[in-house]
Amino acid sequence: MPQHSSSAAGSSGDFPPFRQRHLISIADLKQHEIIDLLDRAERMIDISRQERKSHPTLAGKTQINLFFEPSTRTQSSFEIAGKRLGALVVNMSVKTSSVSKGETLVDTAATLNAMRPDVLVVRHGAAGAVELLSQKVGCSVVNAGDGAHEHPTQALLDALTIRNHKGMLAGLTVAICGDIANSRVARSNLLLLGALNVRTRVIAPRTLLPAGIENLATEVFTDMEEGLKGADVVMMLRLQHERASGKMIPSVREYYRFYGLDAQKLGWAKPDAIVMHPGPMNRGVEIDPAIADSERSVITDQVEMGVAVRMAVLDALLPARNQA
Ligand code: CP
Repeated sequence: MPQHSSSAAGSSGDFPPFRQRHLISIADLKQHEIIDLLDRAERMIDISRQERKSHPTLAGKTQINLFFEPSTRTQSSFEIAGKRLGALVVNMSVKTSSVSKGETLVDTAATLNAMRPDVLVVRHGAAGAVELLSQKVGCSVVNAGDGAHEHPTQALLDALTIRNHKGMLAGLTVAICGDIANSRVARSNLLLLGALNVRTRVIAPRTLLPAGIENLATEVFTDMEEGLKGADVVMMLRLQHERASGKMIPSVREYYRFYGLDAQKLGWAKPDAIVMHPGPMNRGVEIDPAIADSERSVITDQVEMGVAVRMAVLDALLPARNQA
């Protein structure tokens, strides 16, 4: 991955105070706040690449990760992010918690709130559940993905990855391909990239486009060749079987034939276009394994940027909480 422009690791204390208490939706952020988080994350890349990956600005703070849906990347990178900043990090396993005995989300929130955490990082299968929870607790809340609504730290890490590979964001064309209808990643990316003056396109079969897509500031394509022409970035999305997207296509084989990213389809994008995927990836469904593992793929860079972005978000939100 190209080196980023930031100098040596330094304190994030020279950034102006971050005025948001929670991170629920990209729609809540102003352009300068998005850029602030990306710039903070640049500093965090330096910390994460040091031998001693520690910058304990959050020493004494408590972070609870509360995941009601499975996660590999997001939960582990929030845990690593909190620990690199010196916070006490607790992972709540929903399967072994009282949620599995019928406790409501609000009661769970009240219980955790009584333990005086500084931040709750929450993933939930229902759109809006994380915002509801944020209204019931006294600490900061970060949305780690709520249903098909939003996944704000994914969009931030995607933007950071693109900026570091392309040296800029404004003026680029990003094509987001696949299960747009069920994707919180697509929604957060469309909002964030739009706020930073990036041209976006979505490409999907009609059945995997959400109602009202024409009202979003994006170009809509159902044909991969047309949609990928001239793209600087090709972002592939997973078919979300847990949200029944498999029923919206005739067969996985046919989907791969028309929408799976292979060498021929990637050839329609710019010759230096990068390939992204938020993971988890279904090889042979939305992407040819050879493309996923090729030099054009920046998928593992996205994972590295995920830790940096989550460090930046925690660093930005927690001081704001103290000043409230
Ligand atoms: N991209 C993403 O959210 O991955 P996980 O589901 O593994 O957290």
